[in-house]
Amino acid sequence: MLPWVFLLSLATSISAQRLSGQVGSAFFTTTNDHVAFRIDNEAGEMVLGGTLGLLVGDMSTAMECSDGDLCFSFANGQRLIATAEDHCVRIDWEDDTPADEYKDCFQIENGNHWYGGGGQRYQPWPIEKRNVTNAPFVAQDMLGMGEYGGVLEEYWLSTRGASLHVDKQVPLFFSIDTSTLCFQARVAFPFRGDEARLGYFVCSGTDMLALHNANIDKFLPKPSGIPDELMFRYPIWSTWARYKTVINQTIVMQFSQEILDNEYPNSQLEIDDKWEPCYGDYYFDPVKFPDPATMVQELKDAGFRVTLWIHPFSNNWCDSFDEHPQYFIKDSAGDVGLTTWWAGILAGTLDPTNPATVQWFFDTLNALRDTVGIDNFKFDAGETNWLPLDFVIDVEESLIPDGYTKAYVEMVAPFGPMLEVRVGRATQEKPFWVRMIDKNSVWTGDIAGFDTLIPTLLQFGLIGYPFVLPDMVGGNAYSGDEADKELFIRWLQVNVFMPTIQFSLTPWDYDEETIEICRQMVELHATYADTMIALAREATTTGHPINRPLWWVDPTDPETFTIDSEFLLGDDILVAPVVEQGKVTRDIYLPVGQWQDEADPEHPTYSGPMWLTDYPAPLNVLPYFTRMSP
Ligand SMILES: *[C@@H]1O[C@H](CO)[C@@H](O)[C@H](O)[C@H]1NC(C)=O
Ligand SMILES: *[C@@H]1O[C@H](CO)[C@@H](O)[C@H](O)[C@H]1NC(C)=O
Repeated sequence: MLPWVFLLSLATSISAQRLSGQVGSAFFTTTNDHVAFRIDNEAGEMVLGGTLGLLVGDMSTAMECSDGDLCFSFANGQRLIATAEDHCVRIDWEDDTPADEYKDCFQIENGNHWYGGGGQRYQPWPIEKRNVTNAPFVAQDMLGMGEYGGVLEEYWLSTRGASLHVDKQVPLFFSIDTSTLCFQARVAFPFRGDEARLGYFVCSGTDMLALHNANIDKFLPKPSGIPDELMFRYPIWSTWARYKTVINQTIVMQFSQEILDNEYPNSQLEIDDKWEPCYGDYYFDPVKFPDPATMVQELKDAGFRVTLWIHPFSNNWCDSFDEHPQYFIKDSAGDVGLTTWWAGILAGTLDPTNPATVQWFFDTLNALRDTVGIDNFKFDAGETNWLPLDFVIDVEESLIPDGYTKAYVEMVAPFGPMLEVRVGRATQEKPFWVRMIDKNSVWTGDIAGFDTLIPTLLQFGLIGYPFVLPDMVGGNAYSGDEADKELFIRWLQVNVFMPTIQFSLTPWDYDEETIEICRQMVELHATYADTMIALAREATTTGHPINRPLWWVDPTDPETFTIDSEFLLGDDILVAPVVEQGKVTRDIYLPVGQWQDEADPEHPTYSGPMWLTDYPAPLNVLPYFTRMSP
């Protein structure tokens, strides 16, 4: 046994190896196998703690180095560099030889919640409600296997007033559970390159809203304009959920007639899948649509604008596949890279990083506008999982694969503020609609159903996409799921105070009561269209979402942090729809302020913060409140 005096001196010599340092309000201390991290707010309260460099290995012989404001180097050649910048600290891992991976983790303490990242398979709000383990942070069609959807930003915000923003060049695998949030940078599929970079900002603020505002200016581009105004006002009518691919000229005209007969307004009629003879033809099927120009003219005469569903694929049995192979994404051998999508097992896909493709695509769609009279387009896909496996695109390697998604949005952008996409990747400045991916016609469950509408809305808004186009009222009626009357009406009610409404299943598929309730809801939406348009304009200067989480009016009220079934329109209209099957009452939280009950305007205003329990909300009632004073 060693004498205790010796043990004491050993302990002293180990602790002597520890390095500590401060950058801004962030503190770093080395241990034998990680760097302990902490960042405080301006009041000196700790807002986030972390353990950095978890895969670096032996750190017992850490040395100071000279990059940034603080630099520690470790035995294996890695360096941790921290630099103060605005209200943030930038953290970079570097290595003399290309590193395989890095992992930094942050603690989620009790009462602390996180938002951000982007669209998820089963959208949680806040996000630590759903465990995610090492999910590649790339734009994917989450109807398949991926955790993440097509609308993403490497940005996370915590209720305690801390935030994280990771560089786009990082091959990021993301994990979160109720106790930890981790970044792992690793060069592995679907990323490319030979070096794992990890670089990000940790920021702090006195409250999360002030912090978020500072972060918008630093990290999130603001929209350069607003989408088409008529689409804020009146519903889009799509053929998709009601008819699926069984459409033709007669059916489209019949659909439009039903809308008119039932005296519903419209912003446009959307001809969805499948109007082409073969996928990728970009002209109307002459058998199903014998005279599309006349059809469109008749629709216009009846008060409809007409939009068309567009995707980037050409199936390999279609003429278009052989007609213009030069516009498709190539593989490393220079041949057309074959991909599989939901309506084709071997297909070419347009290369948005090839200027010749972009020009051809623009000309082709413009010809549809000129010859047929189409007003605009619904663009589908754009996620990276539709890339052929061995693809070659003209994007900086460190931005692969999501540089493809950004390029796809850039390719369609010239069609302007009436268009819709379903992906967003560093494209927050675009003045058009971002659609939620297809929702399933179910109340809840581990797929994107009805109860994910509000969380998805809030999530898109937080990461800088305010112009949210919710998916079709009642969902898509896939795989035998049917929206019954109750689900259909509740779905529309949830949607009323969102920026736009999209129908496909129709109120007259149900009964007179449904037609009547839905008409009132559509009118209510139109009543608030000017408010929504004003908020959209505001977003171009503030970057604020049109629809906001409840904490927007009081970011210090913990009660608001986990509410995922209420939301705000602007700061002053609070919406609390029924989102559970069979319920005709609900509990409603009103944050600070004097709130007028719009369903019962004679009632004295309610003084928030307070809970209204068992608020009556039969099928024809959408509870909402107006804030009379803060
Ligand atoms: C999520 O992670 C937490 C913390 O590790 C764990 O306690 C919990 O069981 C996990 N939940 C699920 C559904 O896996
Ligand atoms: C469209 O389909 C319906 C139902 O199958 C059919 O009655 C009609 O003739 C078709 N119209 C055209 C133009 O193909």
